[in-house]
Amino acid sequence: MVLYDGKSVQTIRVDTPSARYEVHAGSGLLASLAPRIERLAGRLPRRVFVLTSPEIWALWGEAFQKSFAEAPIALFLPAGEKHKTLRSAESLARQMIRAGADRGSLLIAFGGGIVGDVGGFLAAIFMRGIAYVQVPTTFLAQVDSSVGGKTGVNLPEGKNLVGSFHHPLAVFAEISVLNTLSGRELRAGLMESVKAGIIRDRALVRFMEERADEILDREPKALERVIAASIRMKAGVVGRDEREGGLRMILNFGHTLGHAVEQATRYKVLLHGEAVGWGMIAALYIARLRGTVSRAQAERLEELIHRYGPLPRFDVSAAKLVSATGADKKNVGGVRRFVLPIGIGDSGVVEDVTAGELREAAEYMLAEAAKAPDLTPKPAPKPEKQS
Ligand SMILES: NC(=O)c1ccc[n+]([C@@H]2O[C@H](COP(=O)([O-])OP(=O)(O)OC[C@H]3O[C@@H](n4cnc5c(N)ncnc54)[C@H](O)[C@@H]3O)[C@@H](O)[C@H]2O)c1
Repeated sequence: MVLYDGKSVQTIRVDTPSARYEVHAGSGLLASLAPRIERLAGRLPRRVFVLTSPEIWALWGEAFQKSFAEAPIALFLPAGEKHKTLRSAESLARQMIRAGADRGSLLIAFGGGIVGDVGGFLAAIFMRGIAYVQVPTTFLAQVDSSVGGKTGVNLPEGKNLVGSFHHPLAVFAEISVLNTLSGRELRAGLMESVKAGIIRDRALVRFMEERADEILDREPKALERVIAASIRMKAGVVGRDEREGGLRMILNFGHTLGHAVEQATRYKVLLHGEAVGWGMIAALYIARLRGTVSRAQAERLEELIHRYGPLPRFDVSAAKLVSATGADKKNVGGVRRFVLPIGIGDSGVVEDVTAGELREAAEYMLAEAAKAPDLTPKPAPKPEKQS
């Protein structure tokens, strides 16, 4: 599809019982943002807010504002999980009130998954709900968090424990903003696309195998293909199971032990996508034990995961990981639901994975992790004392 500036954009429709909207992925979206929103909403509301982070605004604020005749009112959320809180949401809501926001105001979440989750949550609760638009700027946010309507904040007791389902009016995934993303953030986000391929899209797996160099070099057409396929997969699943009653659970492939790794390393060693990468390796081990994938398939998929690595080293005990999976909030009614790939491009949820299997898988993953590079940033050496 060609719109406004002659650049190509792929459009994917999300159709759930509570909302219908479009996700656009491609180049030239930022430059045409205001007219696109205007077309959606009929006209631009009197007050348009943009929630972003100071870093993203410094890089992309100018490009963001270009298409607006009147600049949106900028609200800032500092980077980092520790700011994804109720306190931040309250402070932002108060800033909006002071800036004259009303129920007709529009909020644009312009940033990574944290900005998107907090922005969506703020839009869900502000005056009992206002319209919002997602303009995701990380790979992870483009392929995953901006689509599906899950919004929320963390509590000291755990991540994403307070939130709401609140779908955006639309999502605009501008590929050129990924040029300033660090290589590590890009690769971690790509793990979600690897996941999308393994659980539901065999052709995506093949494309990511064959075109890995171009994808990792951020060649726009290759990225667009991966992003659109990943969004299509998620939109299809969310359309059939909006509230995670069944099918949507397959999106948690790699997340059971992935979350356990994040928790056991206190969110300090790995990015979320990297933890999911390790979690997928562990889940593939169980799938191979149970015969839902063959040895050759498991090896091929593991190779694909490592191709988008390196996954960082970490060191915790298998026992700690198994106990962390018991606390996973995604276990309903104490049943340990676990997503297993079936061949390549299909998957299912089982409820009978034993602690023994989890432990064996965790041990396999830990042995692999022991061989991986240490990516924890080292503190800068102290300057030598002059005598
Ligand atoms: N709602 C959902 O369905 C869902 C799904 C998956 C993850 N999440 C949430 O998403 C969050 C993680 O999101 P994330 O991985 O995008 O992390 P993030 O939002 O922390 O962004 C990562 C880093 O990249 C920087 N950044 C963002 N865009 C950039 C750009 N274009 N150029 C340079 N730097 C840029 C950010 O400032 C930040 O430092 C977690 O809080 C997780 O819980 C939500």
